[in-house]
Amino acid sequence: MSQLLDGKLVSAKVLDRVAAEVAGMPQPPTLAVILVGDDPASQVYVGNKKKACERVGIVSQEHLLPADAGQAKLLALVNALNQDKNVHGILCQLPLPKGFDYDEQALCRAVSPAKDVDVFHPENVGKLMQGEPELLPCTPAGALELLDDAGIDLAGKHVVVIGRSNIVGKPMAMLALQRNATVTICHSRTKNLSAITRQADVLVAAVGRLHFVTADMVKDGAVVVDVGINRLEGRKVRGDVDFDAVAPKCSWITPVPGGVGPMTISVLMKNTLAAAKLQRRK
Ligand code: GUN
Repeated sequence: MSQLLDGKLVSAKVLDRVAAEVAGMPQPPTLAVILVGDDPASQVYVGNKKKACERVGIVSQEHLLPADAGQAKLLALVNALNQDKNVHGILCQLPLPKGFDYDEQALCRAVSPAKDVDVFHPENVGKLMQGEPELLPCTPAGALELLDDAGIDLAGKHVVVIGRSNIVGKPMAMLALQRNATVTICHSRTKNLSAITRQADVLVAAVGRLHFVTADMVKDGAVVVDVGINRLEGRKVRGDVDFDAVAPKCSWITPVPGGVGPMTISVLMKNTLAAAKLQRRK
């Protein structure tokens, strides 16, 4: 039977470290969060980020825009936050509402790279590619913190990532590569997917489909990291991995909820602190 990679426990340790450092600063960092529209899931995520800020002593600003605000208003807000010396991190919760007239790349480029705590700006993505990131992509770095806490070293391991999104799949692969893993990225057009996933020492599922990873896709003794957040009816959340069937085969596995999810927010807090320190140094 596997051991759990417990995101609640590890994120609490990370948050405690951030809180201790923030407490020693003359002025706390500030994170500005933009929420466009009233999607209930996004409201929950933004609420969780606010709670984490309160816990570590980071000042949080919430900027709410109506779903029909339009790109010009959104970019004007981002520009004002870029100019504001009292704001150290800027995050626009994605996805934007359906039908919102915007260009996602333009939005990613609009946030000042120094305040880009999501690591979505091409300049920060480029630094990540070159192995010299200043801030770390929140979800992939959160997954790595979980592995680090369990003493799982990626050097020489075969890490298979299912999913090629800009938020998770691609940056996850980059971070694993920096840790000297051999990395394979699989996606919806991959042929013989399970033949590849069965080779994984560490399997990262970032597909966005409920219980996509089944027991036959996993090697005995593998480490399984589930990045999926799939909403069932009501408020229940489950991952991309069929946990009950897969867990008995693994050495380590993340639960959903309580795995990678809490880690994403704790890395966001780390990034906001790091961004504030970098800005104050200039
Ligand atoms: N929506 C889902 N995940 C994320 C994230 O990491 N950052 C932002 N800004 N929006 C998200």
